[in-house]
Amino acid sequence: MPKASDVLDRVLVLEMVRVTEAAAIAASYLIGRGDEKAADAAAVEAMRKAFDELYMDGTVVIGEGERDEAPMLYIGEKVGGAIGKGPKIDIALDPLEGTTITAKAGPNALAVLAAAEEGCLLNAPDVYMQKIAIGPGYPEGTIDLTKSASDNVRSLAAAKGVEPHQIIACVLDRPRHAEMIAELRELGCGIVLIPDGDVAGVIATTDPETTIDIYMGSGGAPEGVLACAALRCVGGQFQGKLLFRNDDERARARKWGIEDLDRIYNLSDLAKGDCIFAATGVTDGSLLDGVKHLKGGKFTTESVVMRASSGTVRWVRGEHHTGD
Ligand code: FBP
Repeated sequence: MPKASDVLDRVLVLEMVRVTEAAAIAASYLIGRGDEKAADAAAVEAMRKAFDELYMDGTVVIGEGERDEAPMLYIGEKVGGAIGKGPKIDIALDPLEGTTITAKAGPNALAVLAAAEEGCLLNAPDVYMQKIAIGPGYPEGTIDLTKSASDNVRSLAAAKGVEPHQIIACVLDRPRHAEMIAELRELGCGIVLIPDGDVAGVIATTDPETTIDIYMGSGGAPEGVLACAALRCVGGQFQGKLLFRNDDERARARKWGIEDLDRIYNLSDLAKGDCIFAATGVTDGSLLDGVKHLKGGKFTTESVVMRASSGTVRWVRGEHHTGD
């Protein structure tokens, strides 16, 4: 049997794009239709089917929920066309990251997945995670989740050689972030408030064209793992801490083998070893263009696929035909 690393190398890197493309295309028919559930269901079904084409023995480690909550792509579900035969690959996925965005035709909805050798992606429970992230090129330790938002901005500004008010932060627009936003406004920082989609928010820190320097705030823990897989490929720093609102959430974490509930996770605690990150735009965003339906049943997709061990980033523009 080939080692998982060989397969990540030769076959799966480009093949993963087919999987995110399929999910994005399926969701694109529901853009702006006001139906989050239908958009998500379409993406899930298409992604599930596309996995069957891949020669791998995949296990969903981050998915649509637990077995009794999700009919497809639940945590622990086996996916791939070579179950029991092919290389064992762990998969973290979000067939539609930004269900509300898609329903409202807003920016930055993605179909996204990460793949790694068995045991390399944190089995993150579906709880919130406090996150902080910056792009590549700064000294290790520039960010520190135990410190305040303003201390982190000051530290980043010093590392970048600018004043704190010149730093641009990306934050999910939620009432729970009001205090942090007020603190950043005191410093005079620019704040890009996003309605949803913090995988794209974290990745935006790695692209100077977005002008975003730092991502801060709480969002989904599974999305944290997905974003870390991307940062492992393109560089950057990330810290995350799971946030629990009740005992049920704590029990969920323990069930997935998390013992230290107060742990601060670094990038490679969440995604280690060799890994692949793939995403296709559903709606236009800072990372990728969305699916475009053109005349004559033709449509286009834009995707990115990256690999941690080589640092290779491939941008893939697809032209597809429905035959309609
Ligand atoms: P969905 O695609 O599941 O709707 O998630 C979108 C999202 O904005 C994530 O990017 C983010 O991590 C999370 O929701 C934030 O959760 P909440 O909307 O509860 O603040």
